Amino acid sequence: EVGGVKISKEDVVRDDPTNNVPDTIFTKLGMQLHRRDQHPLGILKNAIYDYFDANYSNKFEKFEDLCPIVPVIANFDDVLVPADHVSRSYNDTYYVDSQTVLRCHTSAHQAEILRSGHTHFLVTGDVYRRDSIDSTHYPVFHQMEGVRVFSPEDWESSGLDATTYTAQDLKTCLEGLARHLFGAVEMRWVDTYFPFTSPSFELEIFFQEKWLEVLGCGVMEREILKRSGKTENYAWAFGLGLERLAMVLFDIPDIRLFWSSDKRFTSQFTKGQLGVKFKPFSKFPPCYKDVSFWISEAFTENNLCEVVRGIAGDLAEEVQLIDNFTNKKGMTSHCYRITYRSMERSLTDEEINELQSKVREVVQEKLKVVLR
Ligand code: PHE
Repeated sequence: EVGGVKISKEDVVRDDPTNNVPDTIFTKLGMQLHRRDQHPLGILKNAIYDYFDANYSNKFEKFEDLCPIVPVIANFDDVLVPADHVSRSYNDTYYVDSQTVLRCHTSAHQAEILRSGHTHFLVTGDVYRRDSIDSTHYPVFHQMEGVRVFSPEDWESSGLDATTYTAQDLKTCLEGLARHLFGAVEMRWVDTYFPFTSPSFELEIFFQEKWLEVLGCGVMEREILKRSGKTENYAWAFGLGLERLAMVLFDIPDIRLFWSSDKRFTSQFTKGQLGVKFKPFSKFPPCYKDVSFWISEAFTENNLCEVVRGIAGDLAEEVQLIDNFTNKKGMTSHCYRITYRSMERSLTDEEINELQSKVREVVQEKLKVVLR
């Protein structure tokens, strides 16, 4: 049964010395925004379900309640992520203990679901990544994974080799999905690399004068299929970021809004209504604060961002490196500009000064840097 090795939030002991999950992240577990029919993420998920149900006569099995706390093996090894890949680092991934992570992608469930015999499935869930802070990045976001497995009779009659057939089917499926969601939108395919697919592609759509990456996909590495007992098969897989798409479809300007319980946000969305444009309630003024310090060897921007989020929470809108130099003695200085802004109210000078002085204090103490 899928989800058999259930690790539940309540059972997690977080005093492991390798644990790097802060409370601000831990409290997000179980929120399942993607299962709210009135929330833009739930509305988008349902619209994607509609596309698959209509075009594949309900063949795709849906999983949306799999626990985000997964074994390292499921998140990385089962999908062939090399032992030295950066995504495994404590700087990029949240570890509950050395054997267990908060999944950093829904691909963490591919192997298990294949092993249980499914050939057409969609997996939706919250995923977790240590990252920078700006309007499109948040350490928790949502992905949907899709997998379709083919048998020899599928490609044999086509006159194409199995890989070409599978890649073509994948592109047709996803172009159809993009049109279902966006209507006539300009799209392009970009070759890329993932450890679990070959060939691998990204789909980009042209939006607000920019090419926006909306999903990664490719022909699944045979090794993954073989290990799940499917020696004769080929498959495709894709993983798409729901926030990215929803921000475009609903005109949502800041990723933090998805977590807002402000009625002025939540009341604007209706079940089944994809792409109703969000009307921003008055934008409150930003406040900028700079902090400069001499970095140490171990300094990383992700660690700085976690300190800022730990103190300012969702009041932190952006953390941006604005100056970087190395002096004659070889010491490197960084200056970061922190943008504070609430989406719900005006902040007072007092309150921001307090946050900023706390940031300075903790940065110095935890990140081993020397303030300037
Ligand atoms: N897991 C990839 C990511 O998070 C997306 C992906 C899924 C790519 C499946 C290829 C196939 O970026």
